[in-house]
Formats: sequence, structure tokens, C-alpha cells
Amino acid sequence: MPTLNESRKSVAARVKPVSPLPVPSSVPPVAIHAGSLLSVSDLSIEDVASILKLADELESEDTVTRDARLFKRRVSLLFYESSTRTRTSFELAAKALGADTSLVSAQSSSIEKGESLKDTGITLRALGAECIILRSPFSGAPYLLAQATGLPVLNAGDGMHEHPSQALLDLRTMKQKLGITGKVSEKLLEGVTITICGDIFHSRVARSNAMLLPRLGARVVLCGPAPLLPEAAAGLGTNISIERDFDKALEQAQVVMMLRIQKERLAGMALDLGEYTARYQANSERIAAHAPKALIMHPGPMIRGLEITSEVADGPQSVIEEQVRNGVAIRMALVQRALGERVKTGKGKGR
Ligand code: CP
Repeated sequence: MPTLNESRKSVAARVKPVSPLPVPSSVPPVAIHAGSLLSVSDLSIEDVASILKLADELESEDTVTRDARLFKRRVSLLFYESSTRTRTSFELAAKALGADTSLVSAQSSSIEKGESLKDTGITLRALGAECIILRSPFSGAPYLLAQATGLPVLNAGDGMHEHPSQALLDLRTMKQKLGITGKVSEKLLEGVTITICGDIFHSRVARSNAMLLPRLGARVVLCGPAPLLPEAAAGLGTNISIERDFDKALEQAQVVMMLRIQKERLAGMALDLGEYTARYQANSERIAAHAPKALIMHPGPMIRGLEITSEVADGPQSVIEEQVRNGVAIRMALVQRALGERVKTGKGKGR
């Protein structure tokens, strides 16, 4: 298993950071802060175990103790793209730990006037930000921000690259709903098959899950039409296969993760949505016939009537609301991890 620093070097080599404006070469990069989370590949199995454990502890902690953990620490949310779940849950998470939060969005800030990611990050740091949570349409942007500021940066979704906190909250949801209580290890999800269906090509959620879940013993089946699921996707990790027939993919699954068709990223791609719906929609007839016991997941936002029907989204197999709820616990753990010290409660040993 690579160390954190080795993983980060491999991320640096793999991802070509893209920013609205390039970083001037005169600015020497600084080391990535150890509290950052840029990719699931930054995390060892032990890191995953400790984040899940911390999420459990924080969720059940009394609010007074929890509020003292990061009292008045400053967390900036820098969102260059729209978000409902990720932004709100990171904000609630930071506030639940006592931190002060400030939101900077592209539409109402100097980003609109052309300020670069680097200058925005340095400005936030000068204003006292101790941690930046970044959503960006540019793959690799969190890596660039972490290098430019030296602050802990949490990737809240970067382009078509990754959404690591989503993969962690999805993992927590699966563990809870499948009743998996064992030690977090390479065998945690042995015997569990997760079918991920839809626009895999553009999905940072699919990418983070496909990179994380097989490391914990799961089998991942990717499903979708060729334009949205290139054969190369099977190379995201071990134990990943491609099944174009959705019914067959459903029959193998204990967990079905449906993905939105990302119309905003489909430019130039010929996709017949009627045909797509006929072949790949999760509807009640199909789920009853081919996956009557599987958990139904969706990272959101859902387009009801396209990739999923309301009957399935709101049905008894759906755990979509639990995914959203788990976002707060996981993101509390990530913000706490980013900002360091733990309050001694007598229960925890500290990081
Ligand atoms: N899952 C997710 O990233 O949702 P939002 O875009 O609403 O944050």
C-alpha cells in the first residue's frame, strides 16, 4: 500500500491540473497539507477505517463537546459549480464542530471578474481560512489549490475526476444498510457486488467509488452504453467489469447505484434519451424482476423519469435519503481530520 505522500505524488503525476488561469511559474509550490483529501487514492485502508470511526464518534457525541472541537476555526467553502448536498452538508458539518464558515461562489465573487483559483485561495488564506473545501469544474483544481495555499483542501468534486467524500458516505451507507459490522479491511465488502449504471464517463462519483470499493473487497460492475462507458473504465481498478445489459448487471447486484445523465457535459455526444431510458432506466418492473432485494442508491441530483422513476427513488429499496444524511457525519470527520487536534473525551485516543 503506498504511503500518503506516495499516493499524492501519483495523483500529481496522473492529474494535469487545469485552472481558469495558469499559476505563474515564479510561485514555488508548497507541500500538500496532510489533512487534505484530494482523491480516494490518498487514503490507506487504515485511513478509511479511521474516518468511518471518527464519523461514528462525532455523530453520537454530545453537541456541547462537539461544538468545542473546532470552535471559531475558519473553514471556507469555495464553490465554482452548483451543489445542494455537498455544500450544505460540509457547511453543517463544519458548524456542528463549532467552526465558522464562509461561502464563496463563482457567481457572486471576484471569480466572476477573472480572479484565478490561486489568487482566490491565497486571498481566503489571508482572511484567515484554515481549510478550504473546493468544488470545481476543472479536474485537478483541488491539487493546484492545495499546492498554492499549503492549507488542507477537501475535494468536494472536481470536474470528471473525483468526489472522494461522496465515495466515503456511500461506503458508510452500504455498511449500515447491508449490516456489515466487521473491521474495515481488504475483505470488508467481500461477496458484495455494486452495479453502477449510467453516465460513467463523466461521473466523478463513479470514479471515486470504482477506485475505493474494490480495495475493500467489493466487485464493481459498470453498466451503460458505449458513449457513456468506454471499455477503458474497467481499468480504474481491480475487480471491475463492464456489463452492457442492465438486466444482467442488476441480477448480480446487492447494491445498485444509478447516475444522472449529465446533460451539461454531453456536448457533441449523440445520445437518444428515449432509447437510453428504455434500456437503462431503473423502474419498478425492472427492479422487481432483476434486483428485488438490492439497495438502490443515487448520489443526486436525480432526474426522475430519466435514469430512475419516482416509484424506485421513493420505494422501499431506496437508501438515497440515508446517503444524504451520511454526508454530514462523513464530512464532520473530514473537516475534523483536516484541522487536526481532537478534544479528549475519554473515549478517543486522538489522531
Ligand atoms: N452528490 C452531489 O455531489 O450532489 P450535489 O451536486 O448536490 O452536491
